[in-house]
Amino acid sequence: MTFDERMQNVAIIGAAGKMGSGISLLLAQEMARLKNKPENKDKNYRLYLIDINLDHLAGLQQYLRAQLVKAGEKACVMLREMYKDRQDLVENQDCINQYVEDALSFIRTGTDLSIVKDSRVIFEAVLEKKDLKVDLLKKIDNFCGKDTLYLTNTSSIPINILNKEANLNGRIIGFHFYNPPAVQKLAELISADSTIQELKDFSMELAKRLSKKIVPSNDIAGFIGNGHFLRDGLYGLREAKKLAEDYSLPGGLYIINKISQDLLVRPMGIFQLIDYVGVDVFQSISETIDHYIQGEDLKDDLLKKMYDKKILGGQKSDGSQKDGFLKYDRNRPVGVYDIDKGEYKLFDPQGWSGELDKKLGEYPVGFYAWRNLVADPKKSDKLKTFFQNLKSSNTLGAKLALSYLQNSKEIGEKLVKSGVAKTAEDVNNVLLNGFYHLYGPINDYI
Ligand SMILES: NC(=O)c1ccc[n+]([C@@H]2O[C@H](COP(=O)([O-])OP(=O)(O)OC[C@H]3O[C@@H](n4cnc5c(N)ncnc54)[C@H](O)[C@@H]3O)[C@@H](O)[C@H]2O)c1
Repeated sequence: MTFDERMQNVAIIGAAGKMGSGISLLLAQEMARLKNKPENKDKNYRLYLIDINLDHLAGLQQYLRAQLVKAGEKACVMLREMYKDRQDLVENQDCINQYVEDALSFIRTGTDLSIVKDSRVIFEAVLEKKDLKVDLLKKIDNFCGKDTLYLTNTSSIPINILNKEANLNGRIIGFHFYNPPAVQKLAELISADSTIQELKDFSMELAKRLSKKIVPSNDIAGFIGNGHFLRDGLYGLREAKKLAEDYSLPGGLYIINKISQDLLVRPMGIFQLIDYVGVDVFQSISETIDHYIQGEDLKDDLLKKMYDKKILGGQKSDGSQKDGFLKYDRNRPVGVYDIDKGEYKLFDPQGWSGELDKKLGEYPVGFYAWRNLVADPKKSDKLKTFFQNLKSSNTLGAKLALSYLQNSKEIGEKLVKSGVAKTAEDVNNVLLNGFYHLYGPINDYI
């Protein structure tokens, strides 16, 4: 079956979730484009969006409509070309309206798995729970044709395990979109040992059509992205706890979040990033990877306590950030959680947090915040100068940042050495494209 034939009948399981909704949008757009090719005009297209949460499914339809309007507005030239034979579509707005209706016309939403029985490709994006994924894959495969292909969005479970336990005989691959799928340019591709060539080819073609940069990862729990993120986050937690002896736990968390953003020149501090991803998601990544990887402690008691207390971060339905390790006001951190007191300690630049800033010391000459460098064509030179100055600085902040950088580099090198990534460049590409870092962890800066 060709790529275009497969794309006539597609299903997404867990479609109303964070990742599922973005994947739904991307596929609806690609299918609308395909449907409008002259040779496909008489073909039937179906995109089944399945989720157990009916409220979220209703929200998904609104989300898709709004996003398709936005996408249409940005792509008027492409839409004009796509509808060039339609004399009735005069204004740009007519083309946009038609595009939205076309894309929505082949979508069917529902909670009943059996409606996907004719699907030729199934995207799985339910919660990161191995037994749930296996159970669903097995059920679906019982009523789908035996040439149905499965793309799972798991961020940590080995594909070989899903393949074996769901009896898929190589008809599954890890196509790991990053969050949010419609925006992020990266996808990690993870084959099981027996993943069939047709599925590998389909995935490469899909990436091309969706303009995603593919980085291959070997099938080791966590893959490259979460392999680095988990260990980087656990290091941050452990460092914060060490600092707690002198500065209290909220102080330690504040310091590590600050230096991991400012002095590592990253878009967010490590605890802001964990909150963004979700403390619960980070905890489940930790449990999964820890389960599959021997000889390394990949769990953390503070993380578990936050999870048990349901301090979970993540996003509200309007997209704004929920409180987690940090408290947020209009998506900006304004405080840090004090787990012993069960309340947030608000930052106080004239008081405790200002005192900690002084203890961290002056930032070295050549310091730029991430947002000031991200679009700067001379950023590599500027980073080089900054990191050189950081190395010759004696402040507490510089010492903590250099250890953090060194640890991140060692994580990256270990991912190559243990065969998760084929090359240092693959590790760096994941951090550059999936996490928006300005430099890869395996670098000459330190
Ligand atoms: N959130 C991220 O940053 C991120 C990034 C990359 C990959 N992932 C992976 O993507 C997958 C989904 O993560 P998410 O963050 O979108 O989770 P989510 O909780 O936002 O969405 C999961 C969806 O699955 C639905 N669901 C649960 N059980 C179901 C069932 N039995 N049948 C149908 N639907 C069911 C839920 O109702 C929910 O809408 C996970 O495997 C996760 O590891 C997440």
